[in-house]
Amino acid sequence: MENKINEYKDLLKGRLKEKRYYHSLCVADEAKRLAKKYGANEDKAYLAGLLHDITKNDDKETHFKIFNKYKYSLNEIEVSSQKLWHAMSGSIYVKEVLGIKDEEIISAIRYHTTAKSSMTLLQKILYLADFTSLDRDYTDVDVMRILVDVSMEKAMKYALSYTINELVGKGAAIHPDTISAYNEIMLKEKSDDI
Ligand SMILES: [Fe+2]
Ligand SMILES: [Fe+2]
Repeated sequence: MENKINEYKDLLKGRLKEKRYYHSLCVADEAKRLAKKYGANEDKAYLAGLLHDITKNDDKETHFKIFNKYKYSLNEIEVSSQKLWHAMSGSIYVKEVLGIKDEEIISAIRYHTTAKSSMTLLQKILYLADFTSLDRDYTDVDVMRILVDVSMEKAMKYALSYTINELVGKGAAIHPDTISAYNEIMLKEKSDDI
């Protein structure tokens, strides 16, 4: 495992800009910490965190090469939102190029930008670790860091609301998976109230 991790780190150093490489190390550490706290597999969480942005610095041509090669079709919103590409291409890359067979790791990477409804613990851990890693510095990061240690659900609610607000503010489209994730939490909250 240690050997593999070092191998992946060398690969990432070659593929990512310095800041993105540092971010990957920070997300890996944070995902491992959250896995320990919430009872998920720490090694899987670390690996998913380490590799989650592996294709982030690839250009458009490289992204679409991988989508075409593995016959991955994108919907209209996915085609128009460049920020979503690396979650899809990254999950394909770790599976097809690195030969990682663990579906939990692959799907955590796949949904780390949009989220979705019915997320697994590992998917939530990676999604949130990407918000609360040590290198992060955005307006609400302090609140997010407190919430992630209080409850995973509260943190998911905050992170999804934050993301949707940001997208609305920018006049950007919102991926249906993000809406589903948000609706699921809000509806659950409502039914808990009754
Ligand atoms: Fe990402
Ligand atoms: Fe990230």
